[in-house]
Amino acid sequence: MLPENDVISKLLLLVLHITINSASRPSAPWNVTMESVNMRHLLRWSPSRAYCYDPHYSVQFQGEWELLFKNGAWEEAMECQHTLRPECDLTSDLASDSDYNIRVRAECNGHNSEWTTLNTTFNRRNTIIAIIMDVEVTGDAVHVFISPRSLTMTVTLTMWEQGEDYDTTKKVVDVQHLSHTFPGLRQGATYCLQAKAEVEGSHQTTSTGIQCVSIPSPQWPWQIPVVVTSVLAVTIALACLLGWATKHRRLVVQNTCFHKEPLPSVLVDVWPVTIPMLVEPHESLVGTITIPALSAKS
Ligand SMILES: *[C@@H]1O[C@H](CO)[C@@H](O)[C@H](O)[C@H]1NC(C)=O
Ligand SMILES: *[C@@H]1O[C@H](CO)[C@@H](O)[C@H](O)[C@H]1NC(C)=O
Repeated sequence: MLPENDVISKLLLLVLHITINSASRPSAPWNVTMESVNMRHLLRWSPSRAYCYDPHYSVQFQGEWELLFKNGAWEEAMECQHTLRPECDLTSDLASDSDYNIRVRAECNGHNSEWTTLNTTFNRRNTIIAIIMDVEVTGDAVHVFISPRSLTMTVTLTMWEQGEDYDTTKKVVDVQHLSHTFPGLRQGATYCLQAKAEVEGSHQTTSTGIQCVSIPSPQWPWQIPVVVTSVLAVTIALACLLGWATKHRRLVVQNTCFHKEPLPSVLVDVWPVTIPMLVEPHESLVGTITIPALSAKS
């Protein structure tokens, strides 16, 4: 065996030794946090920083029951043994309103790290309740969508017409499928909505902000009365005009159709007005024949 090969072999052995030693005790996970929203409890951590091909993680918890009656034993989280992802859903494990200690460790090549424990105890009563309400208007209906989805959550929707007495006009519904439609609303009116969420097992409730939406007035039904009113007004005006015209027909006819120019004053003064005179019937001498009176219309 050549001396160079001997050195290389020794170096390789050293590297292997270091690798095995560091792998034998992986560093513990760190930055362990609990994110509990709407009664869903998600434990997260940052992966161990030691070099490891394939780190796995296991989670344990310890509630008041384990502390008092099981001599401080730790329970294994059902869904989180030898998992790959640096997170664990502990919703089904933390099933009572007690204070829990929670810890996680990394596993690498058959070696376990130290446990890293959550800084403070966790109680599910402190879950954060959070919902988002989206409101959409279609025609005369209002659609409300609630998110996120949570089986243990009860959402109550309250709707009232803006400007109306809150207590008399409000509609309250329990939302079953996280969406609800209020149909047949008054066109042109403004409605306000608010959602309130309650989570089973939690003592907390949360309310969304108030959202107000307007129901649009459709084009046609608005225009029809205007058109009808206009037509009616024109008809009434025409009828009035006709009535008036009938009453003053002669005047109108005289004034408009047969307008008479007055005689010049000269003619009126100089030209003597001849009064037609009746010609008395003359009695004939015979006295038998009577000549009828002649009309003096000449
Ligand atoms: C610690 O964890 C939180 C929640 O998972 C994460 O937002 C944050 O970035 C982490 N901090 C570091 C330094 O990795
Ligand atoms: C936990 O506490 C330690 C020491 O007080 C602190 O350095 C660390 O940032 C804390 N971790 C979290 C996730 O709050």
